[in-house]
Amino acid sequence: MRIKVIFILTFLISGLANAQTEINLMPYPAEITVGNGQFILTNEFNIGITNGTQRLFDGTTRFLRRLDGRAGLFFNQNYLGNTDNHKNAKLLIQISREGIVELNEDESYELQITGDQIVLTSETDIGAIRGLETLLQLLDADKQGYFFPLIDIRDEPRFPWRGLLIDVCRRWMPMEVIKRNLDGMAAVKMNVLHLHLTEDQGFRIESKVYPKLHELGSNGDYFTQIEMKEIISYANDRGIRIVPEFDIPGHATSWFVGYPELASAPGPYEIETGYGIKNPTMNPTKESTYEFLDNFLGEMAALFPDAYMHIGGDENNGKQWDANPEIQAYMKKNAIADNHKLQSYFNSRILDILNKYGKNMMGWDEIFQPGISKDIMIQSWRGKEALIASAQKGYKAILSNGYYIDLIQPTSFHYLNDPLSEDSPLRPEEAQLILGGEAAMWSEVVTPETIDSRIWPRTAAIAERLWSPGAIKDVDDMYRRLEVISIQLEELGLLHERNYEMMLRRLAGGRDIKALKTLTDVIEPVKIYERHNQGITFTTFSPYTRLVDAARPDAKIAREFRNLVDDFIETGDLALTQDIKGYLLLWVENHAAFIELAEKSPILKDAVKLSLDLSNLSKIGLQALSSSVDHDAGWKKEASIMLEAAKEPRMECELMVVSAVQKLVENSR
Ligand code: ACM
Repeated sequence: MRIKVIFILTFLISGLANAQTEINLMPYPAEITVGNGQFILTNEFNIGITNGTQRLFDGTTRFLRRLDGRAGLFFNQNYLGNTDNHKNAKLLIQISREGIVELNEDESYELQITGDQIVLTSETDIGAIRGLETLLQLLDADKQGYFFPLIDIRDEPRFPWRGLLIDVCRRWMPMEVIKRNLDGMAAVKMNVLHLHLTEDQGFRIESKVYPKLHELGSNGDYFTQIEMKEIISYANDRGIRIVPEFDIPGHATSWFVGYPELASAPGPYEIETGYGIKNPTMNPTKESTYEFLDNFLGEMAALFPDAYMHIGGDENNGKQWDANPEIQAYMKKNAIADNHKLQSYFNSRILDILNKYGKNMMGWDEIFQPGISKDIMIQSWRGKEALIASAQKGYKAILSNGYYIDLIQPTSFHYLNDPLSEDSPLRPEEAQLILGGEAAMWSEVVTPETIDSRIWPRTAAIAERLWSPGAIKDVDDMYRRLEVISIQLEELGLLHERNYEMMLRRLAGGRDIKALKTLTDVIEPVKIYERHNQGITFTTFSPYTRLVDAARPDAKIAREFRNLVDDFIETGDLALTQDIKGYLLLWVENHAAFIELAEKSPILKDAVKLSLDLSNLSKIGLQALSSSVDHDAGWKKEASIMLEAAKEPRMECELMVVSAVQKLVENSR
């Protein structure tokens, strides 16, 4: 038959490693057996559900519409309701019960595709919704039409907490951003959206008890309680929990604009527009602070159904505490030795409040202190050590260190960052306390226009790390599947792919973006927090529309070029030099066109230097591959100096092909 069948037979013989290279699933399932043949999709495709719930009818209807959207078959069935329970339907979904959107709910499912029927079985409707995403990812096509491969899957998550944090404070992220990202999360089986709702730069949730919090603390951009209920319900439909974060006692300027009496210094306060660690901090020595927080957190405990509430607790610099004589006197009187102990006292008071409202407390790793109740959960952001130490002392923890997607690190880095790696020192009972992890999308330098490109597709690889067996960690295969998944995520309205060219058109001031795209394809924004050290002071109102904002993390063309050079150096295969030279020539020649473009687009003026560097380093690469150039020590030295200089950030961007050209130079004889 077709080549595909031969591949399928091969993976039956050689097992998982090969199967992984042919099936475009992300996250990859726990167990998979691939058969031989197809389930052919026609407009007769229909779905029956036994024991259906409203969540499942709605979720299945969304599935049906997405499937028909891809295949264009005009399915006879339009939507699912409780009369659609035919056992002979093409897709039969059987669940045992309605799931509860809470930690540790059963999300497992089994999916069996035969030539005649697809059967999806799960304990809960949430498990079925996870299975439907798997099925959508399996849709394939050949010249006869659309089909599903015959396959048998048994799947369940490795970790129960698979989260994404979105900071809606530094940059306001309206409803549509949240909803489309919830859809993206559901597509890759993530189950916690952690909303960072209060910060120095904005108080983003309506409080009816203390209305000056959102009225004066937010410039008008906040979620009303009705809107938050809509988000919670939208997430619940997709089996996703909403965990709210109210960051205290630091990171709290926006609270003090309306209620300066909460702070440790008199004020007045204004909403912060700059970034970094700020001084305003709650006063933990006044009973009125706890009365206020009791009322406010009680209001929020009623609004947010999840059992976990996040109190932040990070980066309190203690300066206001040091400078306040009453706080100093209080510490002396109560034998509180230092600011850390004072914050521990504050945390223990907050813990009592949250427990009173039936909530579990979680916070950043700063909240950990010896002796605090074992009910709290630690979110480790400063290092994996905190995660390990928390579990060793008997505390539940999740990992965010290594999943900070605002730091523009490559997908492979996040992918290989395992909360429980093979060399983890934790004993089995300690390892049980590691519940999973969260990607963290801080919003200092993103907007609704760019945030998706920082979240996706890299977060799909983090989702796989948290869902799939730890042994699934082939980086090349991850990148291969990520290419496919990234495009599928677009159907949910995510903008990570499509906004790239839109932003380049705006930068170019027209439709001809060829020269600009050729350059932008091989640059990335600078990493970690380097963007704040490049001579520009950013605020919540800065334009995030420049070259660095259009440039994407883990630039694919640059990565492919680096891989090509590595292959060439490893194998010595001269055939590869044709492709390498093809890129280098393109980049040499691009410069003239780029200059012409930059003359018409002043916003690109400073990028000419980047383009020139790309052109010059490409010339060096061509020389390195040329047998008519003498690669003597003098040439190598001069080339190295130029290449080192080309590594310097420009316009907050870095060229991502320098290291590969350095290898070509070192390799030249
Ligand atoms: C944090 O990134 N300050 C939790």
